[in-house]
Amino acid sequence: MKILLKNNKEEIGKEIASRIVELINKKPNTVLGLATGSSPITTYKELIKAYKEKKVSFKYVTTFNLDEYVGYKREKDSYKYFMHHNLFDEIDIKDVNTHFPDATNPLAYDKEIELKEIDFQVLGIGADGHIGFNEPMISFDSKTHITKLTKQTISDNSQYFESIDAVPKEAVTMGLSTIMKAKEIVLIATGKNKRSAIKALLAGESKECPASILNRHPNVTIYLDKDADPREN
Ligand code: PGA
Repeated sequence: MKILLKNNKEEIGKEIASRIVELINKKPNTVLGLATGSSPITTYKELIKAYKEKKVSFKYVTTFNLDEYVGYKREKDSYKYFMHHNLFDEIDIKDVNTHFPDATNPLAYDKEIELKEIDFQVLGIGADGHIGFNEPMISFDSKTHITKLTKQTISDNSQYFESIDAVPKEAVTMGLSTIMKAKEIVLIATGKNKRSAIKALLAGESKECPASILNRHPNVTIYLDKDADPREN
């Protein structure tokens, strides 16, 4: 596992986006695994910039998002909306090539992913160590499934909703074993509230920290800022 300490989110976004652009230029039909939340936003901004500067085209790119809420009240609250607003509507990706897990048939997502193979997976991490919506104690063998969100996740994500009551209580998420199938994985963690999750991840495998499964993967890079780095004082 590689750990790269960067000055800020902007630097992290620039570096990850340039790796993605390089990958797509080598392999135009690259398959990306994408995350929502605040962590990947600078990466998406840089990808849009690269597209507008004609440095890359997403015409043949396929994407699989990590997760989606179940039972959201407004379209605006969905992760599909988030992805359109923060990336898809600004680039030349084809809508049919963008995928989200379907709560009515979660396992179909694993089959689709197995057929295509994710080349490059972007991850954030929850303060409780979750990746996707794989909350503490989830099986390391889990596939795409419906899950209840923990109190902590509901509270962390309430900033994006009208009120805490509007946060959906369930989501459908790639499982840990689904995520582990990606050929290459990058995880972004910035800010003090991520430090203890990164500490647990670096301490080795444990079910309390679902992200710690990444210790088993041969090609993972963790991008940190100083605040999220447990090796700093
Ligand atoms: P964040 O969320 O990027 O908004 O901090 C990460 C996550 O919960 O996985």
